[in-house]
Amino acid sequence: MPIKISDIQIPIAHEMAEFEKKFRNSMKSNVMLLDKIMTYIVKRKGKQMRPMFVFLSAGTTGRIDESSYRGASLIELLHTATLVHDDVVDDSNYRRGFFSVNALWKNKIAVLVGDFLLSRGMLLSIENEDFTLLKIVSEAIREMSEGELLQMEKARKLNITEEIYYDIIRQKTASLIIACCKVGAASSGADANAIARMGEFGEKVGMAFQIKDDLFDYGVQEIGKPLGIDIREKKMTLPLIYALRNATWVEKNNIKGIIKNHSENTKKVNEVIHFVKTKGGIEYAESVMTTYHKDAIKILNTFPPSPSRTSLEQLVQYTIDRVK
Ligand code: IPE
Ligand code: IPE
Ligand code: MG
Ligand code: MG
Repeated sequence: MPIKISDIQIPIAHEMAEFEKKFRNSMKSNVMLLDKIMTYIVKRKGKQMRPMFVFLSAGTTGRIDESSYRGASLIELLHTATLVHDDVVDDSNYRRGFFSVNALWKNKIAVLVGDFLLSRGMLLSIENEDFTLLKIVSEAIREMSEGELLQMEKARKLNITEEIYYDIIRQKTASLIIACCKVGAASSGADANAIARMGEFGEKVGMAFQIKDDLFDYGVQEIGKPLGIDIREKKMTLPLIYALRNATWVEKNNIKGIIKNHSENTKKVNEVIHFVKTKGGIEYAESVMTTYHKDAIKILNTFPPSPSRTSLEQLVQYTIDRVK
């Protein structure tokens, strides 16, 4: 039976409940429109895997501290900000099973809402002088924006290699999971070596996390956000890169032609999806994901066993087994 997220949360149930309160408080605003949007966002919360990574990393390297809570809020605020902006960038109308902020309030407002969330996170750290945590997270923010821009640059040219794909996902997604694990470790008073090792663990998990997300795009399951949107946005992800590499010259030209000129056409997009599947692109991406999973567990096992470490191991399993 697949692990349920609610079961993994059991050892940190108290922490997650406290976190929720603090997170909600940090989003308050006196501007009525903003407050309305914040209430909307809080209602449609996500899986909250990143705060879990923070608390479980802290518990694995030491003790959960008051600053672990602020670290978790900082990261979830920033994550929420990037999702709001990402849906503008990807022109996506659907998020967490409902309309995205840009779908309901338009792009102009979504951009400002994302900035507001980011500023709330930074102020939360500054007010409490959590400069070590803020430094870790600020580096992640820089990397995420660079990763998204690198992805756009490559989408324009359709000439992406597997290596560049890994660079993109390391920057746009793994960087924040790295930050979760480092922030957790740093907030528990861990030494530099343990913080760095936790970061390496986070990198492997983050890579697996985004490969899983990219695989969702080829599925038919309801995941709370649009399917087939990556191809529509000309995003070349691992299954497609592999399939193209193993295609004939004629097939390659045909598929690239579709992505370039007909990516809005559902029938044509389905042709690309079918091509990727018959070329074994899905299985290949799954095998790479499994390798990252194994590497992550190897690093995790360099830490002493504890209930937190066990839960963290389950959270990694959940990362690749999850259905949304
Ligand atoms: C979505 O992250 C963004 C990616 C990096 C793929 P999640 O899948 O963790 O989003 P929520 O917070 O649960 O909605
Ligand atoms: C995640 O990439 C990028 C972020 C850093 C937000 P995606 O564009 O694949 O994320 P989803 O699928 O919209 O959540
Ligand atoms: Mg997106
Ligand atoms: Mg995606």
